[in-house]
Amino acid sequence: MEMRKRPRRLRGSETLRKMVRETRMDKASLVYPMFVMEGENIKEEIPSMEGQYRYSIDRMGECLQELLDAGVTSVMLFGIPKEKDEVGSQAYAENGIVQRALGYAKEHFPQMYLITDVCMCEYTSHGHCGVLCDHDVENDATLKLLAKTALSHAKAGADMVAPSDMMDGRVLAIRETLDEAGYTNIPIMSYAVKYASAFYGPFRDAAGSAPSFGDRKTYQMDFHNSVEGVKEAVLDEEEGADIIMVKPALSYLDMVVKVKETVHTPIAAYSVSGEYAMVKAAAKMGWVDEERIVGEMAVAAYRAGVDIYITYYAKEIARLMEEGKIG
Ligand code: PBG
Repeated sequence: MEMRKRPRRLRGSETLRKMVRETRMDKASLVYPMFVMEGENIKEEIPSMEGQYRYSIDRMGECLQELLDAGVTSVMLFGIPKEKDEVGSQAYAENGIVQRALGYAKEHFPQMYLITDVCMCEYTSHGHCGVLCDHDVENDATLKLLAKTALSHAKAGADMVAPSDMMDGRVLAIRETLDEAGYTNIPIMSYAVKYASAFYGPFRDAAGSAPSFGDRKTYQMDFHNSVEGVKEAVLDEEEGADIIMVKPALSYLDMVVKVKETVHTPIAAYSVSGEYAMVKAAAKMGWVDEERIVGEMAVAAYRAGVDIYITYYAKEIARLMEEGKIG
């Protein structure tokens, strides 16, 4: 039989398969999302995200140390305040939960890179990502508060800020405010391509941030749209975003490919709470092999082109890389 090309030839052994691997990954590109809350001596499991915890500041070091031991050197901080109000005051309070967590982490874990989620929804009594006018989020009034929040994070020690609110013009508003205050070197990772998604369900449970009425569809994107995602990415790049994020990851890797072809920034993808919860639940039932599923999801994201992967499985993925099972 005349057959010169046999793809199986390159799959003959583990050594050869590794030699011709097209996707290489590095622990340095993993980011772990972490929840900090008011109170003392708290490490409480999030019911919808088994294996994930909310930490009070005095115990967040346990988590940071485990991450460093695993080789994960970046975290994204989310705060759960004690008090919420109409205008999310605790988001930009000097002694807010994230601001104090930053102070603690900077002092005790200087080797950890600290990214903060910049948004209002964990801090507003109505659970929306900005201030309200009638029954909708008012874009331009929200920009001022987001910029104020980002600046307060930078002052408290954030290494990078990551706005996730999906207001128009927020990257520019934050950039200008940071620059005016002298924080020209603090990068902005924009949740630029963020869809209104059911995959955020467990997070809203974790952060107590579900909207008390309506949904987020007037600001987060309709998941039927792809050109719109590219538009958002381009706008944010023009406004000065240093890194563009696609969120969620698993069902949105087409957007990673498209955005990567269009903008000239590193691309991040956020494997969100619902992705984590689905894998955990199915694994608990014994229906899937957790380790292999997690590895496959991560590799798929990198294969699509992500440079940064934000995931609740960061520690486990770092271990899989260490053991040579992926990457
Ligand atoms: C804040 C924010 C959310 C997530 C990240 N930042 C919630 C939302 O937009 O409703 C979701 C993260 C996850 O599901 O893991 N706006």
